[in-house]
Amino acid sequence: MFYPTNTNAHNLPHDPFKACVAPRPIGWISTLSAGGVANIAPYSFFNGVASDPPQVMYATSGNQPHGPKDTVTNIRETGEFVVNVATWDLRDAMNTTSLPVGPEEDEFALAGLSQAPSQLVKPPRIAQSPINMECRLVDIIDLLSKDPLLPNTMVLGHVVGIHIDEKILTDGAIDNTKLKLISRLGYKDYACVDKVFSMSRPGGGDKLAGL
Ligand SMILES: Cc1cc2nc3c(=O)[nH]c(=O)nc-3n(C[C@H](O)[C@H](O)[C@H](O)COP(=O)(O)O)c2cc1C
Repeated sequence: MFYPTNTNAHNLPHDPFKACVAPRPIGWISTLSAGGVANIAPYSFFNGVASDPPQVMYATSGNQPHGPKDTVTNIRETGEFVVNVATWDLRDAMNTTSLPVGPEEDEFALAGLSQAPSQLVKPPRIAQSPINMECRLVDIIDLLSKDPLLPNTMVLGHVVGIHIDEKILTDGAIDNTKLKLISRLGYKDYACVDKVFSMSRPGGGDKLAGL
């Protein structure tokens, strides 16, 4: 089958696009409002985009009933955020933080999560998450949007510090069988990474990648 995306005439019960770009890592982002209210939300239009210096992106679409999504508003106001890794054990808490609550509500309390202090930025980390990346805003870029009232926006951040819980390491490397991160597929589906295989890159590629 083929369908053009301008009409979205796929004749399927649900839009398949997100299932075609999967699995997507979940950037579980904690921020602080200018007034100091802590906010958390999951974003699966998220990825790392460079490693030296390390940089990440996430994209936010549409608005909340009260206006733009709190995460992007807070980042615009403070220039800082923390990306926390979502794991199998934290899946319900992650989902709870996707609720469209008002900017006055502390989402750590809402999801039963605890705050851990960051070292280089003000927003707190999610204490229960085994990996937290402290980020400073690099740029906010408008993406194509069909409706100017429902904008698509990309946020780029410089990862200035990384916390790793040593419990998820084996021989000094992050062990995915211990981490059990979750990622987003299409529809209501998720994947949990608990099986891993390795391949060496041809032509000295491993050396280039620093391995
Ligand atoms: C797993 C998951 C991934 C999500 N990914 C995105 C995304 O990439 N972009 C987006 O705009 N909303 C995404 N959402 C919805 C936001 O989390 C939701 O709108 C949330 O209320 C935003 O909170 P905020 O206003 O505190 O930023 C996702 C929700 C879930 C559960």
